[in-house]
Amino acid sequence: MPKILNVDELAKTYQSGSKKLKVLDGISFAIEAGDTFSIVGPSGSGKTTLLGLCAGLDTADTGKVELCGSDIGNLNEDERALLRNREVGFIFQDFQLLPTLTALENVSVPLELQGDASAKERSIGLLKKVGLEERLDHYPSQLSGGEQQRVALARAFSNKPSILFADEPTGNLDEETGEKVIKLLFELNKEAGTTLVIVTHDLELAQRTQHILRLKGGKIIANEKVILT
Ligand SMILES: Nc1ncnc2c1ncn2[C@@H]1O[C@H](COP(=O)(O)OP(=O)(O)OP(=O)(O)O)[C@@H](O)[C@H]1O
Ligand SMILES: [Mg+2]
Repeated sequence: MPKILNVDELAKTYQSGSKKLKVLDGISFAIEAGDTFSIVGPSGSGKTTLLGLCAGLDTADTGKVELCGSDIGNLNEDERALLRNREVGFIFQDFQLLPTLTALENVSVPLELQGDASAKERSIGLLKKVGLEERLDHYPSQLSGGEQQRVALARAFSNKPSILFADEPTGNLDEETGEKVIKLLFELNKEAGTTLVIVTHDLELAQRTQHILRLKGGKIIANEKVILT
């Protein structure tokens, strides 16, 4: 299988006041198209930062990220946005829903902006899938944390991404809803071949993916192939 993501010797430093903080150092790994992959590690180990770099939301100091055949270090901001629109779904740890848009609009507006005539219909279908058909007209402030997370999930599916990055997708959900969301993610992987890259603290969830990358202090301490039972 071709590699959908190739990460080579990635490093990222944040400047905070006069201090420099090296958050990622010497990160190299690759993911094959269609694989399921999880990233685990303690709080502050660089998981969210790494996910953002892989998805082309941010750029590294040194090293290379090749996403769907493009070296994203060679793309300008517009080109990266285009690549993300075409290929990438992203579920943020803090959802990042637009507060002035309803649940339905949060899912449908990005599609409408891309000129998709069936945006509304598709978005309603996606919100039904995550169990929110009764909440279409609610604003984010009128939704529980778990409901907001499910809107974020529906939005991440909306462009039929070839690779979906999910930052703690079950972090705010009760066990039953969390299991539903995980099932949906794995279904998407099976049915559409969507590559899944999941950051999680849930080791049971990690064991259900084909590969586990362990981060600590901004470095990879293990890259394991999981024997799925
Ligand atoms: N914009 C920023 N400016 C400065 N420091 C940052 C910035 N973003 C993150 N950091 C720091 O980088 C480190 C890694 O952050 P990151 O969010 O990637 O960790 P994480 O592994 O996702 O943690 P968690 O499990 O708590 O979500 C942290 O120490 C954090 O304080
Ligand atoms: Mg994080």
